Amino acid sequence: MRGIEFLTATGQKCDDKRQEFILLSDLLGVSMLVDAINHRRPAGATESTVLGPFHLVDSPPRDLGATISLDAKGEPCVVAGTVRSLDGTPLPGALVDVWQANGDGFYDVQQPDQQPELNLRGLFTTNDNGRYWLNSVVPRHYPVPTDGPAGDLLEATGRHSYRPAHIHFIVGAPGHHPVTTHMFLDGSPYLDSDAVFGVKRELIRPVVTVDDERRAAEFGVQAPFRLIEFDITLDPALQG
Ligand SMILES: [Fe+2]
Repeated sequence: MRGIEFLTATGQKCDDKRQEFILLSDLLGVSMLVDAINHRRPAGATESTVLGPFHLVDSPPRDLGATISLDAKGEPCVVAGTVRSLDGTPLPGALVDVWQANGDGFYDVQQPDQQPELNLRGLFTTNDNGRYWLNSVVPRHYPVPTDGPAGDLLEATGRHSYRPAHIHFIVGAPGHHPVTTHMFLDGSPYLDSDAVFGVKRELIRPVVTVDDERRAAEFGVQAPFRLIEFDITLDPALQG
């Protein structure tokens, strides 16, 4: 009965903005297990990780270089990369769906009264060279919501609730398997103890300071600026 009550309470915590079942699945490691079984990709393809509970089905389409930080909370940072096929061919017209928490560690849907709607979300299309770039803020580590049954589970098992700093991506292109993944920030706390077991070494990237006027102009910012580069390689789908 305790088990049934727990699952009932988990369902009752869900609404159109809060998905406690996804959170519970993530915290139990079930999401990562299912992901590992369902997304076996060849070496060289970007590794997948958990979707998490904060994705919106309809991310707002934005132009390359657009600013997704609408509340300017956090250290400004350019995020850029190239989407390629497994053989190295750049993929123009690839869709890059990005979402992240603000400099305080909260997603827009967690703070509807404080953050602008669709803050730190965007759907970008790669250019002729397969490039995407956008203006955002350096992500920060954050705790998953602990005010529901999933939080009670963490408490009961003596686990912390933190995730290392990351930016979420779903990237897709015609003729390729899409990938749901994160870029994890090098040096972030909790890289070795992510509450949802999502970290893969291959997905960790540094944030670097670039003091180069030419590169700044490329991204429409002033030098020096902070930059995270995250290239994505997609696995071609079998035809026919
Ligand atoms: Fe996240």
